[in-house]
Amino acid sequence: MKGTILVTGGAGYIGSHTVIELAEAGYQSVIVDNFSNSSPEVLNRIEELSGKKVPFIKADVRDRQALKGIFSEYDISAVIHFAGLKAVGESCQMPLEYYDNNLNSTIALCLEMQAAGVKRLVFSSSATVYGDPERLPLTEDMPLSATNPYGRSKLIIEDMLRDLPAADKLNGSDTPWQAILLRYFNPVGAHKSGRIGEDPKDTPNNLMPYISQVAVGRREKLSVFGDDYDTIDGTGVRDYIHVVDLAKGHVSAIDNLLSDNPVTGVEAINLGTGNGTSVLQLVNTFAEENGVPVAYEIAARRPGDVAACYANADKAKSLLNWQAGLGIKDMVIDTWNWQSKNPSGY
Ligand code: NAD
Ligand code: WQD
Repeated sequence: MKGTILVTGGAGYIGSHTVIELAEAGYQSVIVDNFSNSSPEVLNRIEELSGKKVPFIKADVRDRQALKGIFSEYDISAVIHFAGLKAVGESCQMPLEYYDNNLNSTIALCLEMQAAGVKRLVFSSSATVYGDPERLPLTEDMPLSATNPYGRSKLIIEDMLRDLPAADKLNGSDTPWQAILLRYFNPVGAHKSGRIGEDPKDTPNNLMPYISQVAVGRREKLSVFGDDYDTIDGTGVRDYIHVVDLAKGHVSAIDNLLSDNPVTGVEAINLGTGNGTSVLQLVNTFAEENGVPVAYEIAARRPGDVAACYANADKAKSLLNWQAGLGIKDMVIDTWNWQSKNPSGY
């Protein structure tokens, strides 16, 4: 066993896939989640796939007493912090709840990590921190901005985390903070088994779960938000990344933090494929590869959307020795495998 990793939000979409990849790589996970956007059934599926029980604590990450208990009970080597609220539109309607959850969970977590002397952290950031890109592909040194409270919560957390190694220097700390901020592009797909996958509680906000719910008959048709962008076919272009590749990126980040030669201080790293795919390309590939129709209509642009967004993923390759291995076909096939086997989710 290589070490024990505390995974906040480990019952969620990306967290559950990461727990499986951590187990494959020889790490033990401990999950903390409050099920605000996930289901307890995920834990059974994780046990089934990993062949062992993963310790689970039902708690809110803002609950410092609960965190204290976890750090005293388990010998934690590093933390991956997924827990957070993530719906852009909802964040505009309830900004305070988003700032409360996302900021206060991170503050509570870091305070308790520091108290326990565990200062290695992988944080779920997002390509949303690049705002409306000036140039493509996006490199980590490009200007950052936010266009909504969700994105702003990620930006504030990134800035806050950068203050921690600076404080270590002032305080002469001999166990300095080491944090990797992973900026995900557009996570899609599901585990090959079809046992875990993305299961939005309400109407999906994101494209891929919407497509798969139309395909399975839960929704009538997809609205394609705009076909007049300056892109290959007029529809929005994004860098879709398979969730299993993304999960492996977290294992690489943990490997780095626990290695003899880890990053110093705080490093932001893109996790994307470097390839752009349009909405209609994704819809058509889904329908063709899976042999299921996906009804759609062209609708107005969605406010706040950018025309195109894709990563330069060189830094992940050079620092973490990670690159995406799965393509769009794997993403649509694995999504449909999950959705068709679990038509109503968990
Ligand atoms: P998710 O909602 O499926 O998972 C988040 C998990 O955290 C859920 O299980 C939820 O119950 C839990 N949670 C939320 N607040 C909590 C709290 N205060 N205490 C304990 N548990 C809490 O989301 P996901 O897609 O797996 O995203 C994981 C992280 O990655 C989030 O921080 C999200 O902002 C970030 N991210 C996601 C995407 C994406 O498109 N999915 C893209 C970029 C970044
Ligand atoms: C992709 C494309 C839409 C739905 C969001 C967040 C971002 C990150 C990932 C967390 C766009 C189009 C979508 C639909 C459509 N999350 N679309 N019809 O907007 O790139 O990113 O999720 O960090 O912060 O903003 O992803 O999947 O919503 O949209 O035509 O019903 O699909 O216009 O071009 P987005 P998405």
